[in-house]
Amino acid sequence: MNEVMSTILHRRSIRRFKDEQIKEEELQMIIEAGEYAPCAGGRQSPLFAVCQDKELNDEIGKINYEKLREIVNVRPPEKTGDASSKAPVMKLDSGAHSIFNGAPTVITIFAPKNWYNFIVDAAVAGENMMLCADSLGIGSCMIARAQETFETERGQELMRQWGISEEYEAKIHIMFGYPEGEHPAAKPRREGRVIRN
Ligand SMILES: Cc1cc2nc3c(=O)[nH]c(=O)nc-3n(C[C@H](O)[C@H](O)[C@H](O)COP(=O)(O)O)c2cc1C
Repeated sequence: MNEVMSTILHRRSIRRFKDEQIKEEELQMIIEAGEYAPCAGGRQSPLFAVCQDKELNDEIGKINYEKLREIVNVRPPEKTGDASSKAPVMKLDSGAHSIFNGAPTVITIFAPKNWYNFIVDAAVAGENMMLCADSLGIGSCMIARAQETFETERGQELMRQWGISEEYEAKIHIMFGYPEGEHPAAKPRREGRVIRN
């Protein structure tokens, strides 16, 4: 099979990782894959904030988990998925937990606040990075609520420390690491999503 297609089909969201950092040359390739993604207007505006500090990732991941808890509390379990009645019921740990689950590398993609296309820029860069990771044997998973996480006082402080202007906001996190456990199988694709005219 075509190599790119084979990687697209193989990539799955990985949420459990070995306690081992990914190699620097692998990280460099993943970043480059993000930098070479398409971007609206050719602006190349997304920023890639790489964090390989275990304690800091745990701290940021705990803030994100608290944000998830707030959302689940506001929206009862039966309303937490898509609009269908099959929406998954979310079971959250009662104590403090990092959403990153010990992932050794987390990249948060930031983009300017002022244009709706920037969220798409972040998403396509993220997918490039996850596909590159899969081709290297590295697991990855996108994690939502990056904006809410970095809007907190601690998040804003980190942005200042990292030299990221307040005109930017966090769009998405992606966690990376060597996968632990069996590679998950893809769910069958929902039918009726392709409209051909
Ligand atoms: C925008 C976006 C946000 C996501 N946020 C989360 C998240 O917060 N937590 C999580 O465990 N997975 C998250 N995921 C991963 C999805 O759950 C996953 O892609 C989906 O279940 C399909 O599985 P697959 O990626 O293995 O095909 C997110 C994916 C996307 C595209």
